[in-house]
Amino acid sequence: METLFCSTDENNLRKSDKVFKRAAEIIKRGGLVAFPTETVYGLGANALNSRAVKKIYEAKGRPSDNPLIVHIASLPELKGIAEEVSPKAEKLIDAFWPGPLTIIFKKKSIIPDETSGGLDTVAVRFPENAAARYFIRACGVPIAAPSANTSGKPSPTSAKHVLNDLNGKIDMIIDGGEAEFGLESTIVSAVGEEITLLRPGSVTVDMLKEVVGEINIDKTILTKPDENLRPLAPGMKYKHYSPLCNITIVKGEREKAVKYMAELGEKSKAEGEKAGIITTEEDRAFFENRGLTLLDLGRESDPETIAARLFKVLRTCDDLHLSCAFIKAFPEKGIGLAIMNRLKKAAGYNITEAR
Ligand code: TXA
Ligand code: MG
Repeated sequence: METLFCSTDENNLRKSDKVFKRAAEIIKRGGLVAFPTETVYGLGANALNSRAVKKIYEAKGRPSDNPLIVHIASLPELKGIAEEVSPKAEKLIDAFWPGPLTIIFKKKSIIPDETSGGLDTVAVRFPENAAARYFIRACGVPIAAPSANTSGKPSPTSAKHVLNDLNGKIDMIIDGGEAEFGLESTIVSAVGEEITLLRPGSVTVDMLKEVVGEINIDKTILTKPDENLRPLAPGMKYKHYSPLCNITIVKGEREKAVKYMAELGEKSKAEGEKAGIITTEEDRAFFENRGLTLLDLGRESDPETIAARLFKVLRTCDDLHLSCAFIKAFPEKGIGLAIMNRLKKAAGYNITEAR
C-alpha cells in the first residue's frame, strides 16, 4: 500500500478542500487517514465501521482491548453516541469543548465493540484544530482515532513522525504542521455523578476543579501501575512513549540535579555510550562543552513549551542513535503532572535522586 501524503494550506483551509474530499472518500470506503489535531496526530477510521476500526489496531500493532477515542466536529453529534450526559459533564463541555479534553460516557449501541474495546462506555473528543474539524465534517461520521504512532512509541506531533511509523500501512496522511499542545488530551470519566481523571493533559486538574469542584484522580497517574493497581484507561497500562534510548529522570534541587546529570552523562560517555542531556533553556549553559549531545526541550519558566516539544525530543534521541539520555524531573503541578506522567513512562520509571 502506498501512503498518500497531503499538505493543507494552514492559512486557508478552504483551499485544501480537495484534500479533505479525498480523505473523506477513503474513510467512507473503510480506509485509514492520519490527521492533525491540536494535541497529537490521530489515526482515523469510521468509528461506526468495525472492519475499518480493526485496521487501526493492525496498523499500530495495538492490543485490541485498548479502546479508541471517538472524534466529533459538532456538539449535536454527541447525542448520537453517548447514552447519558451528567450535569458535571455538561459543565465540562461548556468550558472546554472544542479542545484538548476527552470525556467518557455510557455508550449507545451504535458504537461497535471494536471501537470501545468491549467496554460499555465511549471516550469522546471534540477537537479544536480547524483541519481536524474540516476532516471530520467532510467524512460525515464520527471518527475513531488513537494517536497515529506505532503502539509503544512516543505520540506523533508532526506528519513526519506519522510517516516514519506508519508509511505503507495506512492510506493517507494529512499534514497540518506541528501539533500545538504536543501531549495527548486530558481524559476524564463522566460516567455516573462524579468526574474522575484518567489521563492528565493540557486541561489541568485545577482547570477541571474550577468548573466542577472536587474530582477523583486515578492513582496510577502518579505511581507505577502493577497487577494490583490497574489504570482505569486501559491504554495507560501498556509500555508507552518509549524511545529505544534509555531515559533516566534525575530528581532533586536544581543545582544538585544538573551537576549530577552532567556527571552521569560524562560517566556514560567514558564507558563508550552515546550519551545525551535533555535540557531546558535555563540549564543549557551548564552542560555545554562537555562532549555531550544536548537536546533542547524548551523554557522551564514556560512549561507549555516543554509539553509541546517532549515527544519530538524523545524521537530525536533515537534519530541520533543515543544509547542513554538524562533529564531533570519537573514539579508535578499544572501541566507538569502530564509532562511527568508521560516522561515516567518513557523512562520506564527509571528515576534517580541527585547525589
Ligand atoms: O489527544 C488525544 O487524545 C489523541 C488525539 C488523536 O485525539 N488521541 C489519543 O488516543 O491519545 P489514544 O488511543 O492514543 O489514547 C486513548 C486513551 C487510551 O489510554 C485508552 O485506553 C483510553 O484513552 N480510553 C479510550 N476509551 C476509553 C474508555 N471507554 N474507558 C477508559 N479509557 C478509555
Ligand atoms: Mg496513544
